[in-house]
Amino acid sequence: MNIRTTTAPLTLNREYASFEIKTLTPHIGAQVLGLDLSQPLADSVVQDLHKAWSDWKLLVFRDQHIDRTQHKAIASHFGQLHVHPMNLPKAQATTTATATQNNRAANEDPEILKVKTTGDSPYTAGDAWHTDVTCDPIPPLGSMLYITQTPECGGGDTLFADMYLAYDLLSDPMKNFLDGLEAIHDGAKPYIGAYKSTPPEGGYPRSTHPVITTHPETGRKVLYVNSGFTTRIKGLAANESAALLDMLFRHIDSTPKLYCRVEWQPGTITFWDNRCTQHHAVWDYYPHSRYGERVSVLGSERPA
Ligand code: SIN
Repeated sequence: MNIRTTTAPLTLNREYASFEIKTLTPHIGAQVLGLDLSQPLADSVVQDLHKAWSDWKLLVFRDQHIDRTQHKAIASHFGQLHVHPMNLPKAQATTTATATQNNRAANEDPEILKVKTTGDSPYTAGDAWHTDVTCDPIPPLGSMLYITQTPECGGGDTLFADMYLAYDLLSDPMKNFLDGLEAIHDGAKPYIGAYKSTPPEGGYPRSTHPVITTHPETGRKVLYVNSGFTTRIKGLAANESAALLDMLFRHIDSTPKLYCRVEWQPGTITFWDNRCTQHHAVWDYYPHSRYGERVSVLGSERPA
């Protein structure tokens, strides 16, 4: 049974001078209409994109045709580009079959993360609820994914979750309990545990972040643990930490009103705010193939 949400009614902005939007849900996801991202973007358009991104957390652009240089240039409007830990030079010369699946050869173009799944893939990247690279001390603030091949059988959608709403829906006693707690986010969990990849020199990053963060631009509170990277709540006994994380991950898994679902077409670009969202790539298309490339924007401050 569903209990009526007790959070305040949403009054997000829908008017932008540079473009129109079509919203995907009342609170997360907006398709930006009529923009050709292969063309230089005026400052006023970039400002409106930033505003719309801040309001809607996830922007979707259809029918785009860009190359890697353009992809990086568009993302660079939002900050310096991030290099994914799986694109860093490997600690050993040998690479496992799984580590090479995405052809993430170091230095080939380290700011481009290939997202490639075929019938031979042992995994698909991002096939669990996660926020990108929260193992980094300063995780990427946003990610821009350009999909150019979709599975011929259909499917391969991505779910996005509104982590402001995930926080808002917790009870006040639970909010009070979580406030002030910190959690460990460990890159070894997905990259070695799930993907069996060879770590970079020095190993994959491991960082501690607050369980509840405040978005540096909107000032809204966010539930900031994710099943992809978060391994432990500091200061709790192991069984207490496991039970609490399990409850929070289930809260995300079992609350459909948090979600927006993006159905990709070749030429779709999405740009999401990692500081207030999680996402989950759905691998329902085996043995068919899907391909895209992601560029992420470096954050400027630790989550707080
Ligand atoms: C990711 O960035 O986690 C991959 C998302 C996707 O492939 O849809």
